[in-house]
Amino acid sequence: MNILHDKDADQAHLKGKTIAIIGYGSQGSAQALCLRDSNVQVIIGETEVLGSKPNPSWKKAKDDGFEVFSIDKAAEKADIIHILLPDEYHGPVYKAQIAKYMVAGKTLSCSHGFSIVYKQIVPPSEVDVIMVAPKSPATEERKAYLAGFGVPGLVAVKQDASGKARDTALAMAKAMGFTRAGVLECTFEQETYEDLFGEQNVLCGGVVDLMKYGFEVLTEAGYPAEMAYFEVLHELKLIVDLVYEGGIQKMNAIISNTAEWGEYVNGPKIIDASVKERMKESLKAIEDGSFAQKWMEESKNGCPNLLAKRKALADHPIEIVGKKIRELFEKK
Ligand code: NAI
Ligand code: MG
Repeated sequence: MNILHDKDADQAHLKGKTIAIIGYGSQGSAQALCLRDSNVQVIIGETEVLGSKPNPSWKKAKDDGFEVFSIDKAAEKADIIHILLPDEYHGPVYKAQIAKYMVAGKTLSCSHGFSIVYKQIVPPSEVDVIMVAPKSPATEERKAYLAGFGVPGLVAVKQDASGKARDTALAMAKAMGFTRAGVLECTFEQETYEDLFGEQNVLCGGVVDLMKYGFEVLTEAGYPAEMAYFEVLHELKLIVDLVYEGGIQKMNAIISNTAEWGEYVNGPKIIDASVKERMKESLKAIEDGSFAQKWMEESKNGCPNLLAKRKALADHPIEIVGKKIRELFEKK
C-alpha cells in the first residue's frame, strides 16, 4: 500500500479556499483547530438549538474564536464542505441544508465513508467527493498536532469532477499533520467496510462480550467480583499495551510460560473456527448494506433498541463493580 508523507502533499491547493466544518464535536473541533493553526481559512456550520436545547457545540465554536453559521449558510459560503456530524445524521442534514449548495467547483468531504457508501448522501456528479480521516480519536489527533507531529490518516477520492480531488484531500491531510505520520490512500469502501468490521467483530463487539462472559463465569462460580474485574477487564489494557508496542510475541515473551501455554491450548477452544465463520457473515452484512440498512432504521425510529442495550449494560455487575473500583484508584 502506498504511504504518503509531507513531500507528497501540497497545502497550496487550499489557497483561497474556505473549508466549512459541519459539526463542531469531537472530530470537528480538533480538525478545525488544526486547520486554522496551519493558516487554512475555516468556518463552522452548526445548529444553535438541538432537540429544543441550546447546542453546546455552537457555543464552543464561538468561544474558540470561529465564525459560526447555520449549516446551510456555511455550506453556501464554503468551497469545501467537510461533514463531521454523527454518521446517522449525514443523510437528513445533507438533504435539508447542504444539497442545494453542492454546485460545480465545490468539494464534499468527510472523515468516514458510511453515508456516501450506503447512499445516505448522493452528491451530484459535478462536485468532488473526498475523504480525509484521522486514524485516531480526536483528543490524540489534536495533541499530536500541537506537539509538532500528527496522527496517521487515510485519504480517498469518490468523485473527481475537477481533476484536483486528490490534491485537495492530501492538502487537507497535510494541514492537519497526518502526512507527517503517514497517510494511506484507499477507497471509500475499504475504509467503511474495514472500520465497521473492526469495531463490531474485534474492538468493541467481540472484546466487550469476551470480558462480560469471563466476568460472569467467574462470579457465577462464586469468585469475588472485584478480583474478576481485575482479571478480565483491568488487565486487558496492560496486555494490549504490550501487543501494541511489540506485537503478540513481545506480549508472550513478557507473560509467564504458563500463561503462554494456556493461550495456545485453550484460546482456540474459546474463540474457535465457528467464530471465524460468523465474522465472515458479519463482513457480508457490512458489504451488502444490510447492517447499515438496519442501523438507519433503528436511528430513524429514535434508537429504542440502542437505548435499551445501553441501559442493560449500565446495570451489568461488571460495570457496577468497575465504577466502585475505579473510584478507589482515582487520584483525589
Ligand atoms: P460528534 O458525536 O462529536 O458530533 C458532532 C456534532 O454534530 C455535535 O457537536 C453536534 O453539534 C452535531 N449534531 C449531533 N446531532 C445532530 C443532529 N441531529 N443534527 C445536526 N447536528 C447534530 O461526532 P464525531 O464523533 O466527531 O464524528 C464525526 C464524524 O467523524 C463521523 O463521520 C465519524 O465517523 C468520524 N470519525 C470520528 C472519529 C472519532 O474519534 N470520534 C474518528 C474518525 C472519524
Ligand atoms: Mg474505527
